[in-house]
This record gives sequence, structure tokens and C-alpha cells, in this order.
Amino acid sequence: MRIGLLTGGGDCPGLNAVIRAVVHGAQQRFGDDVVGFRHGWRGVAEGERVELTLAATEGLIASGGTVLGTARFHPAEHEGGLGAVLGTVERERIDALVVVGGDGTLRAAQPVADAGVRIIGVPKTIDNDVPGTERCIGFDTAVATATEAIERVHTTAESHDRVMVVEVMGREAGWLAIFSAIASGANAVCIPEERCDVARLAASIEKRHLGGASYSIVVVAEGCMLDRSGGGAADAGRAAGAWSGEIVAGSAGGQISEELAARTGFETRVTVLGHIQRGGPPSAADRMLATRLGMAAADAAHESEPAVLMSLVADEVRARPLALVSEGPRQVPESLLEIARRLTAL
Ligand code: F6P
Repeated sequence: MRIGLLTGGGDCPGLNAVIRAVVHGAQQRFGDDVVGFRHGWRGVAEGERVELTLAATEGLIASGGTVLGTARFHPAEHEGGLGAVLGTVERERIDALVVVGGDGTLRAAQPVADAGVRIIGVPKTIDNDVPGTERCIGFDTAVATATEAIERVHTTAESHDRVMVVEVMGREAGWLAIFSAIASGANAVCIPEERCDVARLAASIEKRHLGGASYSIVVVAEGCMLDRSGGGAADAGRAAGAWSGEIVAGSAGGQISEELAARTGFETRVTVLGHIQRGGPPSAADRMLATRLGMAAADAAHESEPAVLMSLVADEVRARPLALVSEGPRQVPESLLEIARRLTAL
């Protein structure tokens, strides 16, 4: 069998560990050939390929990024893109395509699957918001990176008696924000799942400082929605004009920081963690998850289901229907929001 493999969308720690696991799983167990495509779906459309041997995977378990490169490219959105992908699959005699991606890259696989190509999806994104799985590759490392960064902000906040707003990634879901806020002992967290009522947030920070605290840490997901009305009015939210259009890194954090400074009079600063959260070597947990999902993906290539998502459910790896990814994004559950509410001023 010939297995194709691509990594698409934003990179994250653990992608190289998946590549390694797919190659080991496919070659050691089945004697398959594995063909890597460079730069996500674009490389498939353009036939940019590289033979993946066991020797080529040496050392990949511990390295960040992706040796295949990545891109945000969805074939069906480009004229002739789908046809070009199908042409490459036929020319390269690919029997199954392992697609490692977040919800965008995985959703882009559906029309390719509908055209008859066997697709094995593997979920990765530091945002952890792919539906159908309880964990995405890259999330654990990003939580550790963000948590450590926020802890560092604590000490400078304390020295200067400041309110420090730390913006983390997460456009549609607040997994990274809520995990890193709780783990770092932040005092408030704003996530896309709930409107950020700035009047309430300012009041709770004032109350905290009246109670003797000299500084506060507010963690903000980049996609959180700002409600300036103080009353939960209908104009809250990005779509209705709190801010609109593309999410720009630093915008949510910057606006919340300005609002807090204006409303409380406290000295306020904003830190945008940005792509630091996606860089560096994967944690041991991400190496394990990537290895389990990658090995299972190689097995699934030999099974009968035509389009599957390798998922982690109750700590078991399962092949579930790829169509689940269109249900996204998977948001933070109420139970976790409740824990954050009790610990912070959410
Ligand atoms: O991969 C998802 C993500 O990390 C988002 O949280 C973030 O908004 C986005 O990627 C940034 O993407 P880019 O690197 O293309 O600017």
C-alpha cells in the first residue's frame, strides 16, 4: 500500500512525532511506502512530494514544527484545486491519505473523501477545538508554555502593582485560555464561549484590590467577545460590533486592557503570547498522543472505513466518522467554566 501524508494549517508541537509514528506504523507492520506532501493540501495539489523512510524520521519524536512544512490551503476553494489533488493521488498511486490538521484542514478533506479518496484524519491544534476528539495534538505543550509565561508575568505584575492582561491564542474556543489561567493562578479569564462583560470584570478587579491585592492577572483568549454595555445588551459580540471582522492578534487583549485602565484607574499592561505558544519541542504527553494517533492512523489505512478521524475518547484511540469535524468548533464545557468561575472573576 502507498500512504500519503500531509500536515496542514497552523503548526504545533507534536506534528513531527505523528509523521514518525505513521511511518513506523505503516512500514514496520505492513511494509507500506509513505509519501509526504509538503505544505499541506497545497503540496498535494502541486505534487510537491518527498519519500518518507524510517531513517528520515530519526529524532522527530522530540522536535517542534513539521518537517513537511504546512500551509493554510483548502483545495476546493481554489479553481481546479480539487482536480489537482485527485490527479496527484492517482499519479502517485496513493491508497490512503493521512491528513494531520485542525478543523479547517480536516474539513477540506471531506470533498476529497467524497471524490473517493480514503482519508484518515488526525486532529492537531493548540486550540484543542476539533470536534469528535477529547484532545488535539499540540494542546498540552501550548498549555505548559502559556502557563509558564503567565507565571512570569505574575512576578512583574506584583513588583509594579499592575493589572496585567495576557492574550493567548484561541479564536473560537477558550481551551488554552482556561487551562493556562487556572494552572497559573490567574485572577480572571475571558474566553469566546462567554461575552466578556468589562464593567463586571473591572468591578471584580477593583473589589480584589480593595481586599488587599496589589496586582491582578487577566487571561484573554484572542477570540473573546467584548460586552461594553454592562448589561448583557444585544450589541455584544464580534458579529454585532463590539469589534468586527478578522481576529487580529493583540486586539482583544489591547481593548480589554484599555477598558480596565479607564474603568479602574489601575496601571495596566498587555502581553500577547502569540506564536511562542506554537513553538518548541512537544511535551511528553503530546509525544505520546501523536504516537498513539499516528500508529492508529496507519492501521486505519488498512481498514474498510473510507473517511475517519482518529480520536481520543475516554483515553482510548478510536476511528470515528470524519464528518464529525463539520460540527465544530468544540467549545469548553460548562463544568470547566464553572471551575474557572469559582477560582477567578470570570
Ligand atoms: O492554529 C490555530 C491558531 O493557532 C489560532 O489560535 C491562531 O489564531 C492562528 O492559528 C494564527 O494563525 P497564523 O499563524 O496563520 O497567524
